Amino acid sequence: MINDFKPSLSAVSSAVEKVDADALVLGVAKGPKGPVLLPNPLADNAARSVADSLQALGASGSEDQILRLPGVDGFKSETLVLVGVGTLTGEVDGGVSTEALRRAAGSAVRQLSGADSIALALPSATVEQVSAVAEGAAIGAYSFNHFKGSEDARRKGPASEVVVLTPLKEKHTKAAMARAGVVGHAVRATRDLVNTPPSHLYPESFAQIAEKAAKDSKTKVKVWAPKDLEKEGFGGLLGVGNGSSRGPRMVRIEHAPSRPAAHIALVGKGITFDSGGLSLKPANAMTTMKLDMAGAATVLSIVLAAAELNLPIRVTGWLCLAENMPSSTAQRPEDVISIYGGKTVEVLNTDAEGRLVLADGIVAASEEQPDAIVDVATLTGAQMIALGNRTFGVMGHESLRDSLVEAAGVAGESAWGMPIPEEALAGFRSDVADLTNTGAREGGMLNAAAFLREFVGDRADADEDALDPETRRIPWAHVDIAGPSFNDKGPYGYIPKGGTGVTVRTLISYLEGLARA
Ligand code: BES
Ligand code: MN
Ligand code: ZN
Repeated sequence: MINDFKPSLSAVSSAVEKVDADALVLGVAKGPKGPVLLPNPLADNAARSVADSLQALGASGSEDQILRLPGVDGFKSETLVLVGVGTLTGEVDGGVSTEALRRAAGSAVRQLSGADSIALALPSATVEQVSAVAEGAAIGAYSFNHFKGSEDARRKGPASEVVVLTPLKEKHTKAAMARAGVVGHAVRATRDLVNTPPSHLYPESFAQIAEKAAKDSKTKVKVWAPKDLEKEGFGGLLGVGNGSSRGPRMVRIEHAPSRPAAHIALVGKGITFDSGGLSLKPANAMTTMKLDMAGAATVLSIVLAAAELNLPIRVTGWLCLAENMPSSTAQRPEDVISIYGGKTVEVLNTDAEGRLVLADGIVAASEEQPDAIVDVATLTGAQMIALGNRTFGVMGHESLRDSLVEAAGVAGESAWGMPIPEEALAGFRSDVADLTNTGAREGGMLNAAAFLREFVGDRADADEDALDPETRRIPWAHVDIAGPSFNDKGPYGYIPKGGTGVTVRTLISYLEGLARA
């Protein structure tokens, strides 16, 4: 989007000696008796000499370890690189998972930022393996230098060319390579949006990016400006956005194939900066709060990717965009606002703003009667307490929740299904409005889900006499990515510092699964 290097990705089955790349990368795994050189296209004697020297070189096979060696005689590449893929879990050929390959490819490409072209000679005997290597490379090839002052620093980037060496013929790998290109772009674009500082990304500029992206694709887009939001009663977005001189926006972006197998609505939290509002955050909790639009960035990228992949699934994305700021026009604790559709909320803590803008989005999405609604949000600090920084929480309709967790497994992301306990809603009881916006502190992630569920619409074809509301509601799931959306520690695998693009791959896999079913 603003900084996408778009590495050229290709799969090549020609002889390894002829591959003209700056670096040739081989994989090393941690075997039970020491390092093991993974299957590779080197000639037997060359491979044996590398394998024999692994111990002496200090190659351990640990994830993220990278060793640069001089090129092998008879090869064009100046550097031979050994990358660790982690512990071997079976036979040498089948003993590395696709996710281990994805990470190793990503780690190598990320760490070899000085090389302009990289050839990856990792296990690639199946389309799944080629696909994983290409995907890892495509998401590992990332840098964010757009805001550096010097031109030199801005130009620094990952390799512009990545070649995946495979014995498979091009006709078998073509589709996988094209898909890896689309997935890579979607992940990198999401990271770019998350990393863009709040000085430059605010509701209006975010909406413009969505409009421009829609114009360049086959998607349709509609934007609600503040006066439109007022006319239609989007009280969540207006309440949260009121403290900022930069007004809120709702964006609806749609991929509508001709004969869709299903209609999925995605709702993204898009707080371009979360200061907390009048319930102001302490200074140290405010840094990283540019990440608070990661859900909306994800949703935008998914709709665009669904269009690029021509998925036979109708996908409507709702981006709930606002900036949460304190000012004399900001909403106050104890204000009562009216969410789109008319439910009222007593705002007791202006820092619990995500659920207010999402409520507008969930009600609007429900009106169109999609087959399922999934919201993606950096919603609660409690998510990190419960699941840490690499595992996102999934709550809601049981089978939808479980399908999303399963899709994460296929995609190589870490997800965990969490309950919405029956007592979770009780904390939101208000004396003056339908609900307050703050539940109990304990189980904060689960409570927030219980609040959101109140805004999910009923299915038009639901049995009105059905007693269990869950059977009447449109299937809905809530994905809390507060921790995993942003990596404020060191980079690892294909994950850089900053925005991660987490859940992009999971949701693409989920949609692909629906298309196959
Ligand atoms: N955007 C935050 C959640 C967050 C915290 C995301 C840290 C990423 C890292 C959200 O708007 C928030 O402030 N949530 C409050 C809710 C509370 C006031 C009920 C929280 O979790 O503390
Ligand atoms: Mn907040
Ligand atoms: Zn927030």
